Amino acid sequence: MLTEQERQQLVDAAVEARAAAYAPYSEYAVGAALLTEDGTLYQGANIENAAYPVSICAERVAIFKAVNAGHRNFKGIAVVTRDGGSPCGSCRQVMAEFGLQPSVLIANAEGEVVMEGSVGDILPGAFTPANLLD
Ligand code: THU
Repeated sequence: MLTEQERQQLVDAAVEARAAAYAPYSEYAVGAALLTEDGTLYQGANIENAAYPVSICAERVAIFKAVNAGHRNFKGIAVVTRDGGSPCGSCRQVMAEFGLQPSVLIANAEGEVVMEGSVGDILPGAFTPANLLD
């Protein structure tokens, strides 16, 4: 569970992160902020490519930055778009890799939260690392 202060920190950081989006094709800027269990914050924004499928979502940029820095345990992630759009299926699967408990906050560009739940809430029936254990 996030504290009220952590919720605000995440949403503010995701609003800020959105400004770094490279989205010349869709013009749909997305910002994400991820809070690790030890209190470190990672920001991400979507990065598009002229070869469209090579583009990467904001959520995965933030998660991959954190994982590459050695983090595995997360408290929550905030995602900000102009209309409070929802994380794509690929990003939900990447979130689920690191647990179904972390909070997910979906907010619009004004930082108004339109949905709050857990990773498990937004990916019911997830395939997880537990499936690969004997
Ligand atoms: N996008 C994200 O960054 N996160 C999502 O969860 C959904 C979509 C990006 C990908 C692309 O750059 C743009 O939004 C439009 O699809």
